[in-house]
Amino acid sequence: MAVSPTELLDIARTIALEAGELIARRRSEGVVVADTKSSSIDVVTFADRECEEFVKGRLAELRPEDGFYGEEGGDSTGTSGLTWIVDPIDGTVNYLYGIPQFAVSIAVVEGTPDPGSWKQLAGVVFNPMNDELYFASLGGGAFLTKAGNTVKLSVNQETLLAHTLLATGFAYSSELRAEQAIVLNRVLPAVRDIRRAGAASLDLCAVASGQLDAYYERDTKPWDYAAGSLVLREAGGVVGGLNGAPEGREMLLASNSHLFSQIEKVLLG
Ligand code: IPD
Ligand code: CA
Ligand code: CA
Repeated sequence: MAVSPTELLDIARTIALEAGELIARRRSEGVVVADTKSSSIDVVTFADRECEEFVKGRLAELRPEDGFYGEEGGDSTGTSGLTWIVDPIDGTVNYLYGIPQFAVSIAVVEGTPDPGSWKQLAGVVFNPMNDELYFASLGGGAFLTKAGNTVKLSVNQETLLAHTLLATGFAYSSELRAEQAIVLNRVLPAVRDIRRAGAASLDLCAVASGQLDAYYERDTKPWDYAAGSLVLREAGGVVGGLNGAPEGREMLLASNSHLFSQIEKVLLG
């Protein structure tokens, strides 16, 4: 690979900042729903589509030989062996309601957009509403830049499940939510408290920065976690699925190394 993870990170950071500015501007002009996807509550706004097109276009200029895999479609296979995985707005429901908890998520991996086989090289998660830019490159650590200051991130060292502040999220399908509620029934009495902030990428970054101890969710997609899970790993955290599986649709669990198996046990019932 001729290009280094740091160079890829620079590109991801530049584009995420530009894309974040775009969605913040569109937000201030008023959000318009363009369509629904998997269910009537799974909406896509014109800004989601415009932002993905923008990111795709910038990558085509700067990295024309790489593949692209974005939430809103228009995927392409490249020739370089690298693939960019993009969620143009993670936290669309927050975006719709004006809750300032949404982000542009951009990652680049070697290989295909599959957590079972990819090698994550760089990832950026940018919330334009509070100007928080989380980023990481393989082997380079994880960082947060805010108001011109950059700090290195590391996960909490909490060891007790009972003291764990745990975030989760819920799927757009009501059948799956009914199952998630059953699991939550087991989880809630076992932990300090639960948070549901509404953007998977930012939940992962919050575990990386120590604002949360752990996060789990079912039915997430590669664009939700490709960048955030690298930030978390580079901050010393652990990410995976259940029973040794890689993170994926079945489960995405993120925490420090002390808590992972304790939370896994409760999730498995
Ligand atoms: C969603 C958010 C949410 C999570 C959902 C995701 P979207 O992404 O990350 O927190 O609970 O599973 O689909 O639809 O806003 O890009
Ligand atoms: Ca998402
Ligand atoms: Ca999205």
